[in-house]
Amino acid sequence: MANKIQRSSHIYSFCIADALAVMSVDLGSESMKIAIVKPGVPMEIVLNKESQRKTPVTVALKENERLFGDSAMGMSIKNPKIALRYFQDLLGKHIDNPQVTLYRWRFPQHELVKDERRQTVIFKLSHEMQYSPEEILAMVLNYSRGLAEEFAEQPVKDAVITVPVYFNQAERRAVLHAAQMADLKVLQLINDNTAVALNYGVFRRKDINATVQNIMFYDMGAGNTVCTIVTYQTVKTKDSGTQPQLQIRGVGFDRTLGGLEMEYRLRDYLVKLFNKQQPSKDVRQNLRAMAKLLKEANRLKTILSANADHVAQIEGLLDDVDFKAKVSRQEFEDLCSDLFQRVPGPVLQALSSAEMNLDEIDQVILVGGATRVPKVQEVLLKAVDKDELGKNINADEAAAMGAVYQAAALSKAFKVKPFIVRDAAIFPIQVEFTREVEEEDKSKSLKHNKRILFQRMAPYPQRKVITFNRYTDDFEFCVNYGDLAFLSQDDLQAFGSLNLTTVKLRGVGDSFRKHLDYESKGIKAHFNMDESGVLSLDRVESVFETVVEDKPEEESTLTSKYTVLLPKYIWVARNSVLTPPPPTGPFTVLFIF
Ligand SMILES: *[C@@H]1O[C@H](CO)[C@@H](O)[C@H](O)[C@H]1NC(C)=O
Ligand SMILES: *[C@@H]1O[C@H](CO)[C@@H](O)[C@H](O)[C@H]1NC(C)=O
Repeated sequence: MANKIQRSSHIYSFCIADALAVMSVDLGSESMKIAIVKPGVPMEIVLNKESQRKTPVTVALKENERLFGDSAMGMSIKNPKIALRYFQDLLGKHIDNPQVTLYRWRFPQHELVKDERRQTVIFKLSHEMQYSPEEILAMVLNYSRGLAEEFAEQPVKDAVITVPVYFNQAERRAVLHAAQMADLKVLQLINDNTAVALNYGVFRRKDINATVQNIMFYDMGAGNTVCTIVTYQTVKTKDSGTQPQLQIRGVGFDRTLGGLEMEYRLRDYLVKLFNKQQPSKDVRQNLRAMAKLLKEANRLKTILSANADHVAQIEGLLDDVDFKAKVSRQEFEDLCSDLFQRVPGPVLQALSSAEMNLDEIDQVILVGGATRVPKVQEVLLKAVDKDELGKNINADEAAAMGAVYQAAALSKAFKVKPFIVRDAAIFPIQVEFTREVEEEDKSKSLKHNKRILFQRMAPYPQRKVITFNRYTDDFEFCVNYGDLAFLSQDDLQAFGSLNLTTVKLRGVGDSFRKHLDYESKGIKAHFNMDESGVLSLDRVESVFETVVEDKPEEESTLTSKYTVLLPKYIWVARNSVLTPPPPTGPFTVLFIF
């Protein structure tokens, strides 16, 4: 096997020549970008069938045919009922979640029904065609792999997939589940803001030194807004000397603030104008006309970012009647004034989670298509109190390129220069349990206990052990999200249940009865938050210690430790959105958070 050194701008990687390509998917709410790295070829963005660098995340489902990308987008005008878009907001959501309500309002052409078993939603296109959002996503991921394979001219199996940083356990598991259905091996789910920060750091490796630099990334996309504070510096490592590192220090977000909401404001304005021009008609009754107006609103928003006014124009909008209306940037800004007021929110949330002040931020950098709207920049500039906003990264492709760098780093087939990434869990998680205690007067009462498992902004991947010292018989504990008071009311409602799971332990009493002569060192629950930010309970053990006489000639005593792996513990799902796999052994952990 020949080793090859290859060069892509500042990135060097060498790889085993006949190794397989690996891919990244930057899964935006509106479109996705795919990147690959393969032997002999630098990391690059995959061109789709139309030779475009980005592909709409849209699926059109016909009886015998599935369309993706631009063909599916064409269908969203011709036959809006069968073209599904923006469905990631529905991943892992119960039917009564406000995100589901918002989706129904935005896309009244789709019928969303309840999955009785999981309490989640299903797209019902016909009696035969019913798909969960996870299944739709699986189709898109499978399609993305097809594009990557065609471009790489070889099979691709391993992928790093981006997720919004605010995706909670249920949402992350939903993406993993979709990838599994698409038969992709997920090397890691990477937060898209972290992928952008990694791409930024990799290309500025030589500017990173022992002096701390704090960069704020403000990312407003189609569906959401995220603000991230990242610290760059070099650190000394045990194994590979001094290396650059990025650390996610603060995160703020708004799940529904973005370009799409602005387009809906514009669309509804165009609806009003048309209905006024044609008092005998109501364009809202016609799905195709409404889809055309939404598309025109998208174009209008883009043009009004560069021009003071523009004439919106659609031929034969309804009953062969043409539509034409002049819209000014001022009108657009008035329509969205409440949205622009929400621009500083994520900045303040990011600063407070990082416990930092604005004067500690060296630079603010814009990411995401919706930051091209001048009013967004104007409000943001004021909020961050800087002279200027940085526009020096490729806002569209940074996440896909950062994610493929990570894919190459994780794949055994490639070697990239180390860049240490310290990500952070933005939602605290705690363990809660209730125990009966005896009061002084011998009466009994219940005492509620909680132990923090992961604090807000705790670094991950990380393993944690919680020890329960007072139990001698079977008991149960809950794994819950901690204090989420920092979330806005809307975000809190979209979050879903705060209870992740309940764990019922069996075999605790048995372990005590079998080890009467030993001293209990507690029941230890071993948790792991992995590289994808997904929490699992690895195992639970009952630990005992005893003093044993060792080799008499030395007359020393040693303590000996006995660990009893508890034979069965039962997970009770509260917020279950995934089908648990069937238990395959006594210690199977069921991923049903
Ligand atoms: C996945 O995509 C390939 C094309 O890349 C296609 O042949 C295959 O049928 C798809 N699989 C599923 C399950 O849709
Ligand atoms: C570290 O890098 C910054 C910016 O790249 C530079 O201004 C500074 O002088 C450097 N410091 C050292 C000690 O090299």
